[in-house]
Order: sequence, then structure tokens, then C-alpha cells
Amino acid sequence: MSDLRGARILLGVSGGIAAYKAALLARLLVGAGATVDPVLTRGARHFVGAATFEGITGRHVRDEVWQDIPDETHVALGRAADVAVVYPATANVLAKLAGGHADDLLTTTLLAATCPLVVAPAMHTEMWEHAATRRNAAVLRERGVDVLGPAVGPLMGGDAGAGRLVEPDEAYARIVAHLQATRSRRDDLAGRRVLVTAGGTREPIDPVRFLGNRSSGKMGFAVAAAAAARGAKVDLVAAPSSLATPPGVERHDVTTALEMRDAVLARVDAVDVVVKAAAVADFRPAQAAASKLKKAAGAPRLELVPNPDILAELGARKAGGGLRALLVGFAAETDDVEAYGRDKLARKNADLLVVNDVGAADAGFGVDTNRVVILGRDGSRVEVALAAKTMVADRILDEVAARLRQG
Ligand code: CTP
Repeated sequence: MSDLRGARILLGVSGGIAAYKAALLARLLVGAGATVDPVLTRGARHFVGAATFEGITGRHVRDEVWQDIPDETHVALGRAADVAVVYPATANVLAKLAGGHADDLLTTTLLAATCPLVVAPAMHTEMWEHAATRRNAAVLRERGVDVLGPAVGPLMGGDAGAGRLVEPDEAYARIVAHLQATRSRRDDLAGRRVLVTAGGTREPIDPVRFLGNRSSGKMGFAVAAAAAARGAKVDLVAAPSSLATPPGVERHDVTTALEMRDAVLARVDAVDVVVKAAAVADFRPAQAAASKLKKAAGAPRLELVPNPDILAELGARKAGGGLRALLVGFAAETDDVEAYGRDKLARKNADLLVVNDVGAADAGFGVDTNRVVILGRDGSRVEVALAAKTMVADRILDEVAARLRQG
């Protein structure tokens, strides 16, 4: 049993026959020493009474926005929580959370909460498989919400299938994992300097055209944001991207691979970690035309020359003892993903290589989720299941922080 003393859990309970299991989850959390604030929806109160939760948690059950107005209950509860969980989460609650609704105490509180959120769906299979529910769950995942389950098994009314609430011990274990991750990540990169490259470089053909790629910059920006949140001083060398600069991050805009190389080399000696999330063009036009190429002149014959491989250059310097920074590379692959990844890790002499399958629709370019494998020079292999890029960023930085600690 974990020691959860000092932890504060917001336990949202919505209306479903499985709501009684929330009492068991509350019991597990309280037994481990956590403070649990139960918030019941009106539907939940049809299935379990507030007295049950008050008895188990020793706390008032809140169920109305209109209670305790001077205390600003929803804001206070949202701010105080270290982890929020909705157990069970009905299709209606998933829809409201995905849409950002705030029409009862639970949804209002969750809109004010900034802590990790776990939702455990419970509903009939048809409802779970409805396109609207699938979309809502995907929206929540993209936003970093941990959608736990549903499990497959017996459902109400003698039916069976996907839609069963995960058991209390599984939800409990997930909450503990979030608490531990939040605790161990707090300021674990304080005093460290991290250089991140992000986005796709653009190689000019003429003043209006360029050779580019489909990188949005989302993964690299997420790493920069997460590193800053964990206390690092972060420099972000960004190829063109419409994304906002994350708080606390110093951004240096570049356009081409050559500019990116200069910006990286100017800073690399001062940093502890380099994360090369950028999609760098391997080739550039030998000569960019000074004025716009005209259609009437016919199809241009583009002569391409290779760009420097920035990561490989850093890797070579490191091998020669001329660089101390930990090197993290990325590889976007469409087939034989891991084999190519291992090969790239060795070839570029990186310490870690994050491989993603850009062939999948829900991972890679442009989308907010990713599914990666983090390969280590030391032979380690960490698989990160489909999750928001912000969560993937933290998993990558967990690997980085562990290696920095080893020195
Ligand atoms: N990279 C780099 N400079 C380049 C090309 C790539 O620094 N000119 C870095 C990327 O930032 C990434 C890693 O190398 O961290 C792998 O990029 P990728 O495009 O997958 O590798 P390539 O060497 O271009 O391999 P290939 O095109 O053969 O898959």
C-alpha cells in the first residue's frame, strides 16, 4: 500500500450503476492516507447516497455550485487537487468535458483544475462505440486526459462487452502513478540547461517557394514546455511554427537547416541536454533563385545538395570528447520502425532516440497525440502508449532526468 499522506484527490462520481464502486475507490485512497473530496453529479445521487461518501472520506460531499458561495467551492477544489478522477464517467460527462461545459459542480470544478485528470468511462457498448463518444474520448486524450478503460466484461442487464468500469484497484494504481510522477518530476531539472529544436526546416527555392516537411513542431514545443515546467532553463530553436512560445522558454527562430545548425552550435557547449525534435531537411536547393521563378520558363530543374546532419555532428563531437551534453534524437519512420531506430541511435551516437511511427493516423505529424518507443544507448527500451504529446514529453524527460542523475 502506497503512502498517500498529504495528497488531495478530487473524486468525481457520475451517474451509472457502477457508481457504488466509487465508494470502494474512496476507501482505498483514504486507507492510504489521502484526503478525498467527493463531488457527485445529480445522476450519481440516484445510485449512491452522499452519506456513504461522507462516512468514508470524513469530508462534506459537494454536489451543487450554489453551496458555499463565498468559498468559491469549484475554484478551491480544482486548485487544491493533486489528481482528479471521474469514476465512473458516463457518456454525458465525457461529452461535457470534451466540450468544456460547466453546468454543474463537477464539470465546473474540472474546468478550474490544472492537475492530471483520469476518467474511467462506464456505459453500454453501443454508447461507448458511438462515433460521438469515440470522438469525445479522443479529444480528451489529445488534451492530456488519461482515459482509463473501459474494460470488457459483464454489463448491466445481462449484456457483456466493452464499456465496463475498470475495477477500483486499477483506478487506484493509476492515481498513485500520477501522484508519484508529479512528485518526482517537481523541479527535477532545476539548475539544468536544455536545448530543444522543433518544427520543420524550410529550404528556399526562390523568394516565395521552399522545400519543407509536415512537422508541426508540437512534439518539440511540448518537450520545451515540460522541461521548463520541471525547472530547466530552456532554449528552443524553432523552425517556422505557428505555435506559441511556452512560458519560461527562450525561443530562437530559424528557417533553414544551416541556420538551425548555427543556432545549435552557438549554444551547445553551455547545455546539459540537447533534444533534437526538429525535422531537418536532408537536402536543400544548391542555389535559391534571387527572384521568383516564372511558370513560362518551364519546370525548374532543382539541383539539391546535402544539408549537414546536426545530430550526427553533435554525436561525433561527443564521441571525440568535445561535448558533454546528453543527446536525444528523434526518428520518424514508416516501416521497420524500431530496427531503423536502433540503427539511427548507433549511427548518430545519441544517448536516447525517440522513435515514432508516422504512418499511424493518431501519431506523428500534426496531431496532438503520439505513440513512441524510447531507445537508450544502454540498451533500454521504454514504450509509451498513445498519449498527448505533453505526456509523451514528460516520459522522455523522465528518461533524461534519470540519466542526468546518474551523471
Ligand atoms: N537530424 C539532424 N540533421 C539532419 C537530419 C536529421 O539533426 N540534417 C536529426 C533530427 O533532428 C532527428 C534525427 O536526426 O533527431 C533523425 O532524423 P531523421 O530525419 O529521422 O533521420 P535521417 O538521418 O534523415 O534518416 P532517414 O532520412 O534516412 O530516415
